[in-house]
Amino acid sequence: MARLLLGVSGGIAAYKALEFARLATLAGHGVRVLMTENAQRFVGAASFEGIVGAPVLTSEFERDPMRGAFPGEPGEEGHDPIGHLELAAGCDAFLVAPASANTLAKLAGGFADSMLATSFLACTAPRLVAPAMNDRMYADAATQANLATLRERGVEVIEPGEGLLASRGERGRGRLPDPEELLARVEAVLASGERSAPAIETVLLGEERATSAAETALLDGGGTAAGVVDEAPAGEPGPWTGLRVLVTAGGTREPIDSVRFIGNRSSGRMGMALAAAAARRGAEVTVVAANVSLPEPGGVKRIDVETTAELSYETVERFETQHVLLMAAAPADFRTEPITGKIKRQDSLNLNLQPTEDILALVAADRGEGQTVVGFAAEHGGEAVARARAKLARKGADLIVLNDVSDPTIGFDSTENEVLLVTATDEEEVPKASKDAVADAILDRIDRLRAAGAKPAQAAG
Ligand code: CTP
Repeated sequence: MARLLLGVSGGIAAYKALEFARLATLAGHGVRVLMTENAQRFVGAASFEGIVGAPVLTSEFERDPMRGAFPGEPGEEGHDPIGHLELAAGCDAFLVAPASANTLAKLAGGFADSMLATSFLACTAPRLVAPAMNDRMYADAATQANLATLRERGVEVIEPGEGLLASRGERGRGRLPDPEELLARVEAVLASGERSAPAIETVLLGEERATSAAETALLDGGGTAAGVVDEAPAGEPGPWTGLRVLVTAGGTREPIDSVRFIGNRSSGRMGMALAAAAARRGAEVTVVAANVSLPEPGGVKRIDVETTAELSYETVERFETQHVLLMAAAPADFRTEPITGKIKRQDSLNLNLQPTEDILALVAADRGEGQTVVGFAAEHGGEAVARARAKLARKGADLIVLNDVSDPTIGFDSTENEVLLVTATDEEEVPKASKDAVADAILDRIDRLRAAGAKPAQAAG
């Protein structure tokens, strides 16, 4: 028998969710119910609680008296879990019925402002939504676009039926299917063993995501569900055997609307070359790849991300256990609140850009003994070295790898590079060579720094 999460949002059809809960419980399933505040205007939490034998939750800040357990299970003694993650993590399927137009919009937009919405976002079990509303609201392009977004993300949409609607004398498409049918659909999904959302580490996030699970976890200050750190494979034995190396590669993208983003030209070549070089030396290498179309080198663990928040989350989560961080990615320095749907052509468009977090500075400030932090700087001629040196101090890195991006034959998408390695005490030129050879020169410099027990440059102001 399954553990079912039932999300109930505001609509007259909420009464049918009571019957669904009754049938599912009778069938032997353990049901936990999450209601939105508006749902409680239509039916009372006490009715659900009586039927399923477990408390109903509404706010993501509420404590779950059952500590994430489903009816029939013992709660975990002495452990007070993060409510909005625990039920989502433990369920076998999550049905939202009825799903109002407002709730669908929130789920499609990745909002996390209620227990229902937060759990939906955090849930990797099969997710189903059963829309129910007035037929004109259902037919509206906004609702249809939200449903299309959810379908694309693997959410099963249980189409509403046609017939008499709640508003007097109105007929149309918008009726919640009968509870028996809802249960049959949930059981069919369970029987097929489908998973609607892949684990966070392997998913390449689509451009339409307004708020990713990683971002939410980050903003919530939580993230234990997404933050499972597994081991990178150990490379062939070599001088770096026993070292754990984290490399970031590529360029992040910040969505503007459903099809556009703010991005940069970083290909991820340098990061992948560094990952390969570290693996050749025997290190356990993890690469966090932001929109990189290149394959990762053999024996390297890869995590794909899209936005700066996701890159930050994956880097910060892993950093503590690493000996070397090579921050070769080019994170977008600004993000904007994405607009749902596609922005139409217009005379002018103002985007409110907010700065993203400086990941390198964040982790460098928090590093422990024996951790080496390497940053990369793309600068244009002139004062480049002085700026790289200032960056070294400002970000608290041990080494800045300086690229002159005014030369089109090196850097970004080319296969060659020429860099200057800037530390607190010296500079070393690495002449133009393949990115593999440059990667080896960078690792050699790291070896010498580590041998000398490098101290970070003084953070300036
Ligand atoms: N970096 C980071 N987080 C960001 C931006 C950059 O960790 N939000 C890291 C990059 O991965 C790189 C280093 O900081 O290792 C330098 O990136 P760069 O974009 O050159 O630095 P900025 O901080 O953007 O400085 P400036 O705008 O002055 O060039």
